[in-house]
Amino acid sequence: MSARVTVLRGDGIGPEVVEAALAVLGACLPVRVREARIGGDAIDHDGDPLPPETLAACQDADAVLLGAVGGPRWEGPLRAEDGLLRLRRGLGLYANLRPARYLGLPTPLREGLARGADVMVVRDLAGGVYFGEPRSLSPSEAVNTWRQTTAQVERVARIAFEAARRRRKRVTSVDKANVLEASRLWRGVVTGLAHEYPDVELEHRYVDAMSFEVLQSPRRFDVVLADNLFGDILSDELAAVTGSIGVLASASLGDGTPLFEPVHGSAPALTGLGIANPTGAILSVALMLRYALGRPEQATAVENAVDAALRESRTPDVGGHSTTREFAGAVLRRLHRPSTPEEDGVSAYGWGV
Ligand code: NAD
Ligand code: IPM
Ligand code: MN
Repeated sequence: MSARVTVLRGDGIGPEVVEAALAVLGACLPVRVREARIGGDAIDHDGDPLPPETLAACQDADAVLLGAVGGPRWEGPLRAEDGLLRLRRGLGLYANLRPARYLGLPTPLREGLARGADVMVVRDLAGGVYFGEPRSLSPSEAVNTWRQTTAQVERVARIAFEAARRRRKRVTSVDKANVLEASRLWRGVVTGLAHEYPDVELEHRYVDAMSFEVLQSPRRFDVVLADNLFGDILSDELAAVTGSIGVLASASLGDGTPLFEPVHGSAPALTGLGIANPTGAILSVALMLRYALGRPEQATAVENAVDAALRESRTPDVGGHSTTREFAGAVLRRLHRPSTPEEDGVSAYGWGV
């Protein structure tokens, strides 16, 4: 049986990295791909960043692969980003897993600091200041509401504790409990759950201090649990550990079809140049194989192929001269014949999925 994957290429470099990721997915298993529009692309065609048929196509799939949304053309009343926020909501997705692992790439950190780092951000995707009502914007005042419920915190915290159990058994919960009531609730709920996971060590950090400590000693962190906003910020910050935001992947899990997307955005300045780093999108395919398609061995094979490919081929953001397609080709060669690491050059590879 082939996997049914709804593909949302989106805006900017989204289509370029999705093309590479789909080639890798297609090399792993038979896939039935269904395309739908989201973001600015959907605003242009349908006047809506999340047309109803897109949500329906995502609901009726085993997994969703998304490129990126947004760009300077869609900053008016209809925002491309709303398509993604509504999609997450519409699919009932509440836990965003964002692994950041040292890949042997140059980083802006002091020599050796990032080596061996392996952090998994678990971010609440359903609550917090992103969705709280009331919200408004007028010329003289803007309002956002940070609303966080016990149920929201509990379900995402469980995902974090369970992830930690399969890893190095430490959860660092991030908040601003010295100032925000929503954070005090957050900390209380997480602390209350900890006794159910006696094998996992729980610690708390204020987000301001954490922002420094995670770069000062990235290796000491395992699972980092955070709300929607702090988790968004900290996961981009971890690009300092990997060397580029272009290599960060994510899985969004919850009640409905899981969604897989790179952490990065539409990178308007890179669009159309063919040099966007597709690693985040390709590693998102690995997460899809692991979390949605029941193919953990193939997930690991893709991760190993990426690691090997990065030794021979790099896009400019990580210090190389490869194009998006050349890098994807290097990954595909490692997938097909993992025993020939010295092989070089660009081969013709099938994009048919
Ligand atoms: P961005 O992630 O698009 O870019 C930040 C920086 O990283 C830029 O210098 C960019 O060139 C670089 N970069 C990003 N992805 C890269 C890749 N794959 N390879 C090489 N370099 C890469 O963030 P931004 O500039 O703050 O936002 C641009 C647009 O994307 C905005 O509209 C924003 O709302 C949107 N956005 C969307 C998502 C998403 O779809 N999930 C995530 C973040 C931002
Ligand atoms: C991300 C993005 C989104 C977010 C935006 C585009 C809505 O920054 O996926 O990290 O803030 O969640
Ligand atoms: Mn973000």
